[in-house]
Amino acid sequence: MTTNRTFTMIKPDAVENGHIGAILDKINSAGFRIVAMKMTQMTQRDAELFYDIHKERPFFGELVTFMTRGPIIAAILEKNNAVEDFRALIGATNPADAADGTIRKLYATSLGENAVHGSDSDENATIEGNFHFSGREQF
Ligand code: RTP
Ligand code: MG
Repeated sequence: MTTNRTFTMIKPDAVENGHIGAILDKINSAGFRIVAMKMTQMTQRDAELFYDIHKERPFFGELVTFMTRGPIIAAILEKNNAVEDFRALIGATNPADAADGTIRKLYATSLGENAVHGSDSDENATIEGNFHFSGREQF
């Protein structure tokens, strides 16, 4: 079943700018089912662990500061071909390069503050979903 799931975050910029409802509507309209969802705020340690793969990158400090500055929406999504289809729905990392109609084109502000996260592989979708939704409940 993991091939049919991905993990997303609506990032602090999009929450601050009042885009939660519009982004969830895009997600539902594209055929994704929300399996689990919560509003939360990442600690510095959370963000450092979540983005550990980027720790050597020059933007790492900026990324951690951004991702911890306010609440996010974390969600597990289900759909056939979820990882690939969700990356297509959100668009390129830099909103300037994102296709028309994509979530980042519509709602992101910059390369660093790009409104949403989407897992980049089935394996990472599982790891990232478990990161935010570990606990007693099984989704
Ligand atoms: P994400 O992981 O958030 O879905 O984004 P992505 O795969 O499209 O991009 P990735 O390369 O994984 O980068 C993770 C996040 O780091 C920030 N970033 N800032 N200032 C910069 O040069 C820069 N480059 C990347 C973005 O928030 C990006 O989504
Ligand atoms: Mg990524």
